Amino acid sequence: MLPLVLTCPRCGQENPDGAKFCNACGAPLSAASPAGEERRVVSVLFVDLVGFTSRAEKLDPEDVRAFLVPYYERVRGELESHGGRVEKFVGDAVMGVFGAPITYGDDAERAVRAAFAVRDWAEDEGLQLRVAVNTGEALVALDASPEHGETFVAGDVVNTAARLQSASPVGAVLVGEETYIGTRGAIEYRPAQPVLAKGKEAPVQAWLAVRPIAGIGERPSAAVALVGRDRELGALTRTWERVVEESRSHMVTVFGPAGIGKSRIALELAQVVAAQDGRVIRGRSTPYGASSPYSAFGQQVKQVARIFDSDGADDARAKLTEAVGSLAGSAAAEEHAPNLAVLLGLDAETEIADREQLFFSARVLVESLALRTPTMLLYEDIHWADGSLLDLLETLASRVRDVPLLIVALARPELLGERPGWGGGLPAYTALPLEPLSADSSRELAVQLLAQHDDGDGRAATVADTAEGNPLFIEELARCIGEQEVKGLAELPTSIRAIIAARLDALPAAERAVLVDASVVGRVFWRGALAEMSSQDDLSSVLGSLEAREFVQREAVSRIQGDQQFAFKHGLIHDVAYGTLPRASRRTKHAAVARFLEASTDVGQSHEALGQHWREAGENDRAADHLAEAAQQAGRGWAKPRALSLYGEAIELLPEDDPRRRSIRMQQAVLAQAVFHMQHEDVGRGPADDGSSA
Ligand SMILES: Nc1ncnc2c1ncn2[C@@H]1O[C@H](COP(=O)(O)OP(=O)(O)OP(=O)(O)O)[C@@H](O)[C@H]1O
Ligand SMILES: [Mg+2]
Repeated sequence: MLPLVLTCPRCGQENPDGAKFCNACGAPLSAASPAGEERRVVSVLFVDLVGFTSRAEKLDPEDVRAFLVPYYERVRGELESHGGRVEKFVGDAVMGVFGAPITYGDDAERAVRAAFAVRDWAEDEGLQLRVAVNTGEALVALDASPEHGETFVAGDVVNTAARLQSASPVGAVLVGEETYIGTRGAIEYRPAQPVLAKGKEAPVQAWLAVRPIAGIGERPSAAVALVGRDRELGALTRTWERVVEESRSHMVTVFGPAGIGKSRIALELAQVVAAQDGRVIRGRSTPYGASSPYSAFGQQVKQVARIFDSDGADDARAKLTEAVGSLAGSAAAEEHAPNLAVLLGLDAETEIADREQLFFSARVLVESLALRTPTMLLYEDIHWADGSLLDLLETLASRVRDVPLLIVALARPELLGERPGWGGGLPAYTALPLEPLSADSSRELAVQLLAQHDDGDGRAATVADTAEGNPLFIEELARCIGEQEVKGLAELPTSIRAIIAARLDALPAAERAVLVDASVVGRVFWRGALAEMSSQDDLSSVLGSLEAREFVQREAVSRIQGDQQFAFKHGLIHDVAYGTLPRASRRTKHAAVARFLEASTDVGQSHEALGQHWREAGENDRAADHLAEAAQQAGRGWAKPRALSLYGEAIELLPEDDPRRRSIRMQQAVLAQAVFHMQHEDVGRGPADDGSSA
């Protein structure tokens, strides 16, 4: 029997079966490590040393190696610390991949930041590099191990990245169009000469990445008025006012998925607080690159003490002592400033045996701040925070009393996966979930945003309907439509796809797999169909968990007797899940769904669905028969335009010489006549039926 190994999704290290954390990088191994092949949007990075080949010619092989090994290690280190993975080393070139096997939702930005980091390091070392990043869809072999020379991503995106790299000016980072579109909010770009690439008809559009313009994991806010959050902002404002009036502390956690508007509502609250002479101090946790486990708290203390990252450690400690002294007196400064220095990572030497001591010093500082001025401490993105920071927040929230302090934490729902008991047992705590915007508010936001592009017509409705109440998605869709980057909305912008893909990747592997299977059945699916498609033994509990996470919902009625019916809560999740399937597995899975429908439904009622599933399964012959049957039924039910289009679908599947074509053509002709008459003569005869209720 083969020994069982678990491949780390972060670094590719193989670990013994049953390991909970990676032996090499410490990443948790229980998170989804999807297996098999998938289609994914990835960002590919190529780095090449300029002039290395000619230099290597003159060197001894041992010297070449002595030079290359540390270089590889450094590049690998930068890629991995940004969430990427090395696919291969070819001579002196390195190819890295971001967005697989795990998608974080901001993979293109991570790739560009990693490119900057590698480039900057090389400059310091006196090395010259060419770097390029390109983003696009690829076929990913999720269980390949690149360490053993197995190829892990394949697609045009890789070739184009290589071409961009060879066209990149020395010392520059050149990116392709999808990378540019997906990251331009966070990175400044200059247009570059399009790149002529072998085997490509059109030149490849390219941009030079200049520098980051937003913090890591931060999103510059679009300047449109707030819509549809009166109730939530009202509740937050009232909490703040009570904190001030009663001179008490309180903690609120605002929950919601990426882009729903947590940062935005916190910003609005901060403005209210500032207008009422309160003090707002903000700290954020980042997905990578944090300077210390208490980084978010550290940022706040540094703001209070006016410490800059450019200050030397001695200066920084002096400023800290002075700040604590002026807030809490010199005795307190002597006792607490050294502990705070440890929390901030300003003191690498002192070992403090007892964490309580550190937390007590933090508490003294916070209390003396709030005692002077009512204070709101804002913690953004605590789902990325280290457990130690969460402990500190809970300690502050439970121990600080009788001073006007409002702690506001913002979190995506996955926080509760890591910390199911978050906030539990605190004396003054509120959880505020942000729901999707209502249809009206979505529409209002879309209209506002499209107006910026001189284009507020009917497209606002399309944007609002597609975005499912997520303001970020509304912004992205409006921008794409405004700039004509996608034709209509046939394609989902890569940025939205990436954010949703990241939500899928955060699921345990079994749940993710079931969700992908379900996407093949359709927006509505049945438990029995899933049982037909996979050997998941614990289907009920997996479905229960997906329901609790609000990916799917159980429906009260079922079209299939005795079989529980479910629906995807969001169409976007369905579409993205389905989009991960490579063509080959799509075919086998659609065939399984078709078999399930044949076995469990009256075929007479399922012709259309059967036709569609058999078609996707590659069984054109069967599919055509079902579609023709469905067309006949639709025609009998006076859904004549629908019948016409179903006949059209059927005919497309039949070979030129198939005798069935003739009879279908005749039926089509009769129907076309009937439709013509319906439209021109029978107006007013009854409600129009476009058949879409099928
Ligand atoms: N109610 C609203 N009205 C208008 N614009 C909004 C609203 N809510 C959010 N937005 C805008 O939508 C975008 C996404 O919102 P925001 O950055 O606050 O999301 P978030 O929940 O903090 O996401 P993340 O988890 O990624 O940090 C921002 O540009 C924000 O200004
Ligand atoms: Mg945010």
